[in-house]
Amino acid sequence: MQLLLLVVLAQLSLTGSSPPPDPVACTNGTSNCIINNPYASFPDRRTCHAARVAYPRSEHELVAAVAAAVAAKRKVKVVTRYSHSFTKLACPGGSAGAIISTRWLNRTVRIDAKKRLITVESGMLLRELIRAAAAAGLSLPYTPYWYGLTVGGLLATGAHGSSLWGKGGAVHESVVALRIVTPAPASRGFAMVRELGTGHPDLDAAKVSLGVLGVISQVNLS
Ligand SMILES: Cc1cc2nc3c(=O)[nH]c(=O)nc-3n(C[C@H](O)[C@H](O)[C@H](O)COP(=O)(O)OP(=O)(O)OC[C@H]3O[C@@H](n4cnc5c(N)ncnc54)[C@H](O)[C@@H]3O)c2cc1C
Ligand SMILES: *[C@@H]1O[C@H](CO)[C@@H](O)[C@H](O)[C@H]1NC(C)=O
Ligand SMILES: *[C@@H]1O[C@H](CO)[C@@H](O)[C@H](O)[C@H]1NC(C)=O
Repeated sequence: MQLLLLVVLAQLSLTGSSPPPDPVACTNGTSNCIINNPYASFPDRRTCHAARVAYPRSEHELVAAVAAAVAAKRKVKVVTRYSHSFTKLACPGGSAGAIISTRWLNRTVRIDAKKRLITVESGMLLRELIRAAAAAGLSLPYTPYWYGLTVGGLLATGAHGSSLWGKGGAVHESVVALRIVTPAPASRGFAMVRELGTGHPDLDAAKVSLGVLGVISQVNLS
């Protein structure tokens, strides 16, 4: 019995837990990159390549990153903090594409506790969102169970908790507005910010977009 206990304790102390590594690795600064998920394999078992990565730290830098890729006619996809989807959603295809990481877009923009509104940048982790909301006495009614997902990633894939109450358990049901950066004509500088508020005909599509409509910059949850 004692031996068994010792074996169990030894196992416990050996099993640490640490967050997955950064999904993006480049061989030449921010160019010649490969993108991985934490499972180290995509369903097609092929490596995902991208020509370059950008790490914007503000909406202004995000617009510049989208504009640069559009001007160079590169395909663009968004990569998140841990890039937790099994599917190859984050891969721009081929090896000439660009990826934009939301790693540093993880701030709280605004909280209005009275109106029960919180606006955050799209790269914020669910863990950070729960903490920021709690600090203002707010909470999300339902969430997916792992808190290492980002707001942008869980919306894009329609991620949900489980409940049939009210509108159900999907996080996108709590989104009342968002800001999304999309390609634009050269005359408008190759990229623009679109603000989609409650009732906007494109809001539902932009919430659960699989990441193909543009880069969500900020999300307003209620
Ligand atoms: C341990 C674990 C538990 C999970 N539990 C649940 C659960 O309980 N319920 C559930 O529904 N799902 C669950 N999932 C699935 C998870 O919600 C999805 O895989 C989610 O998409 C992962 O979020 P991510 O932030 O890692 O996004 P990623 O996988 O990195 O990205 C997903 C997609 O969103 C796009 N995207 C990301 N950010 C933006 C942005 N700012 N603008 C535009 N597009 C963007 C990406 O390009 C990609 O196409 C779980 C996953 C894991 C690993
Ligand atoms: C590495 O990047 C620099 C600057 O971005 C570029 O000039 C150079 O050609 C790149 N080298 C390789 C091997 O891709
Ligand atoms: C944003 O992410 C960085 C690095 O991933 C982290 O150091 C920082 O604490 C995060 N900021 C917030 C507000 O959570």
